[in-house]
Amino acid sequence: MLNFEFKNPTKLIFGTGKIAQLAQEIPADARVLLLYGGGSIKTNGIYDQVKAALASYDIVEFGGIPANPEYEVLLQALSVIKEQSITYLLAVGGGSVIDGTKFLASAAYYTGPEPWDILSQSIRTEHGMPFGTVLTLPATGSEMNSGAVITRAETQEKRSMGGPGLFPAFSILDPQVVRSVPQRQLANGITDAFTHVLEQYMTYPVGARLQDRFAESIMQTLIEIAPVIMQNPADTDAAGDFMYCCTMALNGLIQKGVPTDWAVHAMGHELTALYNIDHARTLAIIAPSHYRYNFRTKREKLTQYGQRVWGLTGPPEEVAIRAIGRTEEFFHSLDIKTKLSQYTENYEGTAERIEERFTERGWLGLGEHKSLTPQDVRTIVEMSY
Ligand code: NZQ
Ligand code: ZN
Repeated sequence: MLNFEFKNPTKLIFGTGKIAQLAQEIPADARVLLLYGGGSIKTNGIYDQVKAALASYDIVEFGGIPANPEYEVLLQALSVIKEQSITYLLAVGGGSVIDGTKFLASAAYYTGPEPWDILSQSIRTEHGMPFGTVLTLPATGSEMNSGAVITRAETQEKRSMGGPGLFPAFSILDPQVVRSVPQRQLANGITDAFTHVLEQYMTYPVGARLQDRFAESIMQTLIEIAPVIMQNPADTDAAGDFMYCCTMALNGLIQKGVPTDWAVHAMGHELTALYNIDHARTLAIIAPSHYRYNFRTKREKLTQYGQRVWGLTGPPEEVAIRAIGRTEEFFHSLDIKTKLSQYTENYEGTAERIEERFTERGWLGLGEHKSLTPQDVRTIVEMSY
């Protein structure tokens, strides 16, 4: 096992009816900015629950944060924070609203010339405006980590940011919110969480038995509950398992003491930036090709994954190959397509474009061995057409 330090300060509040507990978590004298997305919370009852819980607070609202939170929209929210002397942020939404809120938590205290620098220059946020979240969509794990991904349509970019100052103070996980989540987003959530585990597992063995089993158990649970939740999102037990899997997949725990990859996400973000494909679907497009291309270096973990997660038997090399196929089939079972050409007709030239972008950014060695060059990336993206 590799050396590590682990600190995660987010208080997780799980359970049916827990939104009512909001007032216990936010300082009574806070001037709160309530942030939300395109309005689903107004039709599924979550907005009303939040407002009722915070009846005694001084609240300003900002809605309209789009999926793949857009920089220009967030700048409008930043003006509201400054004009209204906001002291506390509350995100009510999925990964996009939570990530947008993290950007604002950072930008509110940022003194540099242009907040985009936080993303383009990878400026770590040591201290941000305090914020909490009410999660409405299990998927990203953003509710218990310190990272965010922000989109800028003007330049067709999607960039990451983070730092210890960006953990939510608390996150409320009420499994009942899953009832209103559309099929497309349920499938996205399962796929995203599954791929988060793969990014932190599908590398090479370092003798970290417990981390391996944490990872495998999350994947096994997701495989087990996927058909249940797709069939009936109102199944509160399955919804709770789904939520907790998504949170645990990316709250830092399973990546401690092991190598991590994250190249699938790096390539996937470019597909969202260029073609506006849902985040999870970009991962399903890239992951199978990534594992096939890097088969030699990932072979041992692929075999272990095939044996333990999919119950495959036979010669190790064959198990490893079949494990990639089973992963692809799992995505298909969620009605997620795994080829770029199934999402856009204009895919020619994508691989070259991504190769160029990574070269320009100096991303010359991705993956657990820091050896995946922009040329390798180009081949993987081509394999995903
Ligand atoms: O906008 P509203 O009206 O809220 O509707 C949303 C949105 O249309 C809807 N939705 C959410 N909860 C709902 C609901 N509809 C009905 N009932 C509910 N209870 O779902 C749609 C998608 O929401 P979004 O927040 O965009 O989805 P998700 O949670 O998948 O977040 C995706 C974003 O997170 C980033 C992605 O790149 C993408 O921008 N990620 C963030 C990560 C992180 N911070 O750690 C890691 C991930 O790898 C990912 O990159
Ligand atoms: Zn993801």
